[in-house]
Amino acid sequence: MAQKFRKIGVLTSGGDAPGMSAAVRAVTRAANARGVQVMGIIGGYRGMIHDEMIELTNREVSNKIMLSGTFLYSDRCLEFKEEEGMQKAIATLKKHDIDGVIAIGGDGTFRGATDLSVRGIPTIGVPGTIDNDITASDNTIGFDTAMTTVIENVDRLRDTCESHARLNVVEVMGRGAGDITLNTAIASGAVAAVIPEAPFDEEACINKVIRLRREGKRGFLIIVSEAFPTLGEELAKKITAITKDLAEKEGNDRLWVESKFCRLAHTVRGGSPTLSDRLLATKMGVRAVDELLAGNSDLIVVERAGEITTCGIRWSQVLDRMYKGTLKPGMTDEYTAEQLAEMEAFIAEKKETFRKTYAMLNELAD
Ligand code: F6P
Repeated sequence: MAQKFRKIGVLTSGGDAPGMSAAVRAVTRAANARGVQVMGIIGGYRGMIHDEMIELTNREVSNKIMLSGTFLYSDRCLEFKEEEGMQKAIATLKKHDIDGVIAIGGDGTFRGATDLSVRGIPTIGVPGTIDNDITASDNTIGFDTAMTTVIENVDRLRDTCESHARLNVVEVMGRGAGDITLNTAIASGAVAAVIPEAPFDEEACINKVIRLRREGKRGFLIIVSEAFPTLGEELAKKITAITKDLAEKEGNDRLWVESKFCRLAHTVRGGSPTLSDRLLATKMGVRAVDELLAGNSDLIVVERAGEITTCGIRWSQVLDRMYKGTLKPGMTDEYTAEQLAEMEAFIAEKKETFRKTYAMLNELAD
């Protein structure tokens, strides 16, 4: 028979993401509705170690659905990675009679969730990260808002690019995943996207800019992933220099494409969550409560083809590695040939969708 849950904890950890607060609200309301008390753990796993928590009643989470950041605060807690830190955290949970935990964050947060699960604390993960780098889920909480924020900023850059016939290279966050970069490049009509998932042909990109300038195009945008920390600024300088030389050589100053660089950095993480992120956060938060109360653990909630479902944390970690090509020997030994084939098919489909999207950008960027 499933364990009876009386009190659960919820935390947000890792880089904050718009919609995390909405997810905490959903967890609170869903648990309270099922007669389960909720403790909000302050500042991620650090709050668990240092016994910092507040009770979350339904009133406590009023007016939180639209909040930016996370009202429970967040942290990347190194102390929790050590056994001593974990044991302190578990002692805090026991002291408060907390029967299970819902951990909202990215892959680092899920490693913490597994650490708790294997030490006897049922834990469910909810993907909250702007990067959309949880391969098992089509979407993560915060991704839509981050893209919307990029677009708002890039549209402003476009205005001034067009007025001055300039180019702007914009660097956006996303860690090792090009999802934000690629989607916002398409949605802003950029001439190119530089992403970790595909090789970048710099010469072809510069030649395209020159050709389009000859055809009369005034403003240009190029979106670059932060995975290439120096590329964006250098590219802007290079285009400026190459087109200046060309303009001088041909005696046609209109060929000069003065290029600026802009790093959006943490602006991409702020702001009130979009409708999509509020809905996703709400659905995932409720599902996490249902899973925990049903006696499940070491799972994450994911979205696939619009449906909310779950998968094992280990499964999701292996999928991430398969996707990035960073699998190490032995990592897939626990899976049957059938399961591996299922994973490989999933990855192949995801990569194909990404490839088509990238090809679409290049076809339309003219
Ligand atoms: O994972 C979210 C993220 O914003 C990444 O896009 C970025 O690389 C990283 O966090 C930045 O981390 P920090 O806020 O610790 O500088």
